Amino acid sequence: MSFSSPRYDFADKKSDYARLAAELEALLEDEHDLIANAANASALLFEALPDVNWVGFYFLRGSGQAAELVVGPFQGKPACVRIAVGKGVCGTAAARRATVVVPDVHEFPGHIACDAASRSEIVVPLIQDGELLGVLDVDSPSVARFDEADRRGLEQVATIFVTHSIVAS
Ligand code: SME
Repeated sequence: MSFSSPRYDFADKKSDYARLAAELEALLEDEHDLIANAANASALLFEALPDVNWVGFYFLRGSGQAAELVVGPFQGKPACVRIAVGKGVCGTAAARRATVVVPDVHEFPGHIACDAASRSEIVVPLIQDGELLGVLDVDSPSVARFDEADRRGLEQVATIFVTHSIVAS
C-alpha cells in the first residue's frame, strides 16, 4: 500500500476533512498499535493540512495526582516532553475533556511555547470508552488559523484514531 499524502487546499474544509478522514481510516484500518497509529496519523495530518508547523500527540501517563501528559509521535520541531494536566493548552483540553481552540497563543495565559513560530493552536482530547488517553495538538504560525470546521474535522480525526488504536497492556 502506498500513500501519497496529498496536500489539499482546504478551500472547502468540510469536503477536504471528509477526504482526510477516509484516508486516515485506510491508513489505520489494519493496525491497532497506539504508537504506530499516532506516528502515521501525525505524518498524514502534517502533510495534508496547510499552514501548520506542529502536529502530534501527548498521552496521559500515571494516575491520580501523578497523571501528566507525555509527548508521543509528532511532526515539527522538538517539543516539551511533560505537561501537567490543567497546564498550557494541552493540559487545559485534557482537564476539561473538551477541545480548546486558541486564536492567539500570546493571549492564552499559561500557553507553553515549544516552537516560537506558533501563533494559534487547537487541542482535541482523545477519549476511549470514557477514559482520557491523551490529546491531539495542532499548531499554526498564523493567528486564528483554526475555526469551527477545523474543530469538527479534527474531532472526527481523533474519533477515528481512538477507534482503531489499542493501548498496550
Ligand atoms: N503549546 C502547547 C504545548 C505543546 S506544543 O505546542 C507542541 C500547550 O500550551 O500546551
